[in-house]
Amino acid sequence: MLADRVAVMTPAPAATIGQIFNVNLARPRTRALFNDSEDYKTLRNKIVGYLDALNQGQKAQANDYGDLPNVTPLDLSSPRKPKPSEKQLPQAYLDAAHSPIERRYLEFFNLKKIYPTPKGPLTVVEDVNILMDRGEFISLIGHSGCGKSTVLTMAAGLNEISGGGIVLDGREIDVAGPDKAVVFQAPSLMPWLTARENVSLGVERVYPHASRVERRDIVEYYLERVGLGDAMDKRAGDMSNGMRQRVGIARAFALSPKLLLLDEPFGMLDSLTRWDLQDVLIEVWNRTKVTAVMVTHDVDEAILLADKVVMMTNGPHATIGKVLEVDLPRPRDRKALLEHPKFYAYRQEVLNFLEEYEHGHAGKSSQKETEAA
Ligand SMILES: Nc1ncnc2c1ncn2[C@@H]1O[C@H](COP(=O)(O)OP(=O)(O)OP(=O)(O)O)[C@@H](O)[C@H]1O
Ligand SMILES: [Mg+2]
Repeated sequence: MLADRVAVMTPAPAATIGQIFNVNLARPRTRALFNDSEDYKTLRNKIVGYLDALNQGQKAQANDYGDLPNVTPLDLSSPRKPKPSEKQLPQAYLDAAHSPIERRYLEFFNLKKIYPTPKGPLTVVEDVNILMDRGEFISLIGHSGCGKSTVLTMAAGLNEISGGGIVLDGREIDVAGPDKAVVFQAPSLMPWLTARENVSLGVERVYPHASRVERRDIVEYYLERVGLGDAMDKRAGDMSNGMRQRVGIARAFALSPKLLLLDEPFGMLDSLTRWDLQDVLIEVWNRTKVTAVMVTHDVDEAILLADKVVMMTNGPHATIGKVLEVDLPRPRDRKALLEHPKFYAYRQEVLNFLEEYEHGHAGKSSQKETEAA
C-alpha cells in the first residue's frame, strides 16, 4: 500500500532477495480505493502466491515439526466409519463434545461492563447482544480499546459481568473453567515442561474418567494436528513463538471446550507464521466444529475464519455496530478465498465500518488495524 516496489526475501538460512514486484498504482493511495482496484488485487494475489510458495518450500525442507498428514476430516455431526488409514477423534473427546442444545448455544444478552476508574465508574461496553448456534465461529473486530478483550474475558468467566449476562449451553457463565478454553496472544505455557506435558496438564482435569491411554491419545492427536508430531517432547522454553502458539492451540482443543475463545491469537507472529497458524486453526476447527469467538485486528483473518464478523463501535459505551454474515464455502483455503469475488466485498464492508469509526477518535492508538492489508 505504501511502496513503489516490494522486494520479497527468501527464508533463512542464506536469505536473499527473491522476486521484486513493481507497484504501479496511482497516488495518493487509500485503502478503500485499493479494494476496488483490479490491479491491486492481482498484485496482492501474486505476492501472496509467491510468499506461500516460498513457505511451502521451506516447510518441505525444514522438517522441524513436519507437515500435517493428508487425512480426510471427520464430520462430527454425521459419524461414519473411518478408513483404517484415518486416525479417529478419541472417544472420550466425542463423549465430552456431545450436547443436546444446537441453536442459541451461546447467548450474550444486554451485556455490560463498568470498570471503576479514579474519575468514577466507566461504562466500557453495553447492550452487547450476540446469538450463536452450536458450532459457529465468529470474529470480533473493532478499534483498539473498544472493549473486545473485555467481552471475551467476561465470556471466559475471568472478568466480572456488570449487567446482562452470557448463557452457554443452557447455563449462565459466572466462573472460569476448562469448558471455556482461552488462547491469548502469548500462550501461558510452563517453559520447563515439554509440549506433551503442557497439553496433558489440562487434559487430566477434563477427562477424569478416561484411561491413561485415552488421555495420551487425545494429547498426541492434537499435537499432531497442529504440526508438532515430531516435537512433542521438546521443552516449551526451547520453542519458537509460532511453535508455542501451536501448543496453546493444541491445549485449547484437547480440553474439548464448549467454547473456544481466542484473543488476537496470532497478533505477535510475523505474517508467514500467522498464515501457517491460521491454516492450522482452520484445519483443527473443521474437525471439531467447536463454537468459537475470536478477537482480531486483521480484517482478512476475521473473514477467513468466521461465519459472522461482529463489528464493535468505539468506547466508552461501545456496542455492536454491525454484523456481517460470511457466506463463503467451507472448508476454506486462504488462497482460494483471496480470489473469491465475495471476499473483497466483505472486506470492503468491514473496512468501511472501521474507517467510519476511525475518525473522531483522536488520541487513541489505532495503528494495529492498519496492518491488515
Ligand atoms: N481493569 C480495568 N480497569 C479499568 N479500565 C479498564 C480495565 N481493563 C480495560 N479497561 C479499559 O476498558 C477499555 C476496553 O479495554 P479492552 O482491553 O477490552 O479493549 P480491546 O478492544 O481489547 O483493545 P485492544 O484492541 O487494544 O486489545 C479500554 O479503554 C481500557 O482502558
Ligand atoms: Mg484486547
